[in-house]
Formats: sequence, C-alpha cells, structure tokens
Amino acid sequence: MCWIDTLYWKIEDVEKDESMIAEAAKIILNGGIIAFPTETVYGLGANAFDKKAVQKIFQAKKRPADNPLIVHVSSIDMMNSVVDMNDNNMASRLIERFWPGPLTLILAKKSAVPEEVSAGFNTVAVRMPDHPVALKLIEKSSVPIAAPSANLSGKPSPTTAQHVLEDLRGSINGVIDAGEVEVGIESTVIDTSVSPPVILRVGAVTVEEIRGVIGDVTYEFDTAAAAPKSPGMKYRHYAPKAKVILIEGDVEKIRSRVLCEIKRYKDQKKTVGIFAGDDNARYYSGVSVINYGKRDDAKKAANMLYGALRRFDEIGVDVILVEAVEESGIGIAVMDRIRKASEKK
Ligand code: TXA
Ligand code: MG
Repeated sequence: MCWIDTLYWKIEDVEKDESMIAEAAKIILNGGIIAFPTETVYGLGANAFDKKAVQKIFQAKKRPADNPLIVHVSSIDMMNSVVDMNDNNMASRLIERFWPGPLTLILAKKSAVPEEVSAGFNTVAVRMPDHPVALKLIEKSSVPIAAPSANLSGKPSPTTAQHVLEDLRGSINGVIDAGEVEVGIESTVIDTSVSPPVILRVGAVTVEEIRGVIGDVTYEFDTAAAAPKSPGMKYRHYAPKAKVILIEGDVEKIRSRVLCEIKRYKDQKKTVGIFAGDDNARYYSGVSVINYGKRDDAKKAANMLYGALRRFDEIGVDVILVEAVEESGIGIAVMDRIRKASEKK
C-alpha cells in the first residue's frame, strides 16, 4: 500500500474545536478512514455504508476479512438504519441502561449495511460511544461509523493518539487526538440476536451490571472454541513483542514467584518488565516496574494495561511479568486481556 499523509487534529474543547471535527467528518463522508477517541479505546472509522471505505480499514489494520466491525451511532434513529430491533425487549433495556457507553449489542442486520462490515453475518454489532468527540464526529458525518480498535491487528488496542500513530501513520487519513481514553479496555460485546443473550467479549460493562438489568446471561469467551461466534476472539490479541507471563495467587505468593522469575531471567541475561500492584511494586529492583495501583479494584489497571505493554516494548524488555488482579468487576475483562496477551505466538 502507498504511504498517505496522516492529518492530525488536537481537540481541547469540542465546541471550540468543532471545525476540526467537521473537517475529519468530511473526509469520512468522502470515503476516507479516520482514527478517533472513544471512552474505551481509539477507533478507526469509516462510513459504515461505504464498502470501499470499510475495506480500507481492513487493509490498514491488516485485519482478517472474516472479523466483523462494530458500527458506532449517535442516535437511536441512526441505530435503526443499521439494525432491526424486532421488538427486542432485552436489547431495549440494555440500551436504556448503558448507552451511551461501553456496551456493544449484536442485532439483526439491515440490508443497507454492506457485507464487508458484518463479514457475511446476518447480524451487526452496534454501540453508542460515551465520548463527546466520537459523538460529534458521527453527528457531523451524518452516517453511522464502522470502527474497530485503531491498532495493527494483534497489537494492544490504542489508548492514546500516539499509539495510533505508532501503528498506522502513513496508512490512514487522519487521527483526532483528545488525550488519553478513560476506560482503557474495549466494550463488552453481547449477542442479543439470540435468546437468552450471550456475552461474547467481557469488557468495560461488567457481567454483574448486565445481570442487574436482564437477569442471568451466559458468557462464551473461550478462544479455543471450535467455532467462536465472535470471530475476533479466535485471533491472538492485545500482544506486545515481549513474552508476557501472568503470575497468579495471593499477594505473597505472587511476590515470591515474581522475585524467582526475575532471578531466573537475569541468569539467562534477559531483561524483565513488571506490571505490578501497589502491594508488591516496591519489592522489585533492577527491573522496569509499572505500578497499576490496587489489585482489588482493577479500574486503574484497566486504564494502564495496554499503555504499559506498549511501553515495555519501547524499552525493549524480553519478558513482561504481569501480577494478576482480582477477578471481579472490570477485573474479569482485565484478566481476559492479559491471558490473551500471554498466549503463545
Ligand atoms: O470498545 C470497543 O468496542 C472498541 C471501540 C473503538 O468502540 N472497538 C473494538 O472493535 O474493540 P474491535 O473490532 O477491535 O472488536 C469488535 C469485536 C470483535 O471481537 C468482533 O469479532 C466482534 O466484536 N463482532 C463484531 N461484529 C460481530 C457480529 N456480528 N457477531 C459477533 N461478533 C461480532
Ligand atoms: Mg480490536
């Protein structure tokens, strides 16, 4: 693919900087692809009705064509232009409770949505992001925006515009920079085209929160599943260049294992980075440590995880040891992403 100049807009204030967002929206309407911030991670967007533009996303990210995209909308009317709700009561309740926000719903696809977006499925993933810049960009474009995370396929999702540029400068038309994202890991994906609904990807909205609205749901996020319903789940994800090792157990057990691994890798002349919680971070010396705060409240760890993995690659460590967080609330999604990052290449 030929190099294209990637425009860059820094947004401080959505109202004041509206003309920059309008410029980006115009490029989207003209068939270009633009990276933009959402509350979860940065997305790489194209007009969801323009199949040529959507194909450019797959090329830029080197994304397998059988992995469908999420369509981002700024209103319920717009959502109705891409999916058929068919009096789907569960979906309505979830939308009412969580939108705008980090919950993606799989619903029956309308024919206006090209196959390129849905990867041949008769369903489409939709969400309304909770970010003023994303919402303004969609409104100004006046079309729904199909957008995966704005990273090269297989890399950690971008949580800053700099991460986007690292991966995609020269292969996208522009990036809107609104600083660091708030959440740091992707939206929860729930299939509401089946009854009862199934969580296909754990994410920023927790399983407990969803249960609070629609009762029991199952989840199916086993990458080893022979025919995963969410194709994205079968690919190796969220992975830096370095080898990632997850260390689990109680605080003391984790600490002694980490100290042991540090010594083992040092003996092999390998460099080590550690993504560690508050309790243990101070015990590790002679290695690069990034402290993610509390293990029992993984919000900060969620926010820092992808940036930390990228940072360790920049430093050039051979091995990244990651201390487990408590597997509750958003910690479930954090542990899911760490496990995927640590799968063998
Ligand atoms: O937070 C997020 O969800 C971010 C921001 C940019 O919105 N987007 C994101 O997109 O993470 P992506 O493409 O990286 O992940 C979308 C996931 C993939 O696992 C994909 O397979 C699944 O959603 N998906 C999309 N459409 C689907 C469909 N019709 N049926 C099943 N799974 C679907
Ligand atoms: Mg992604």
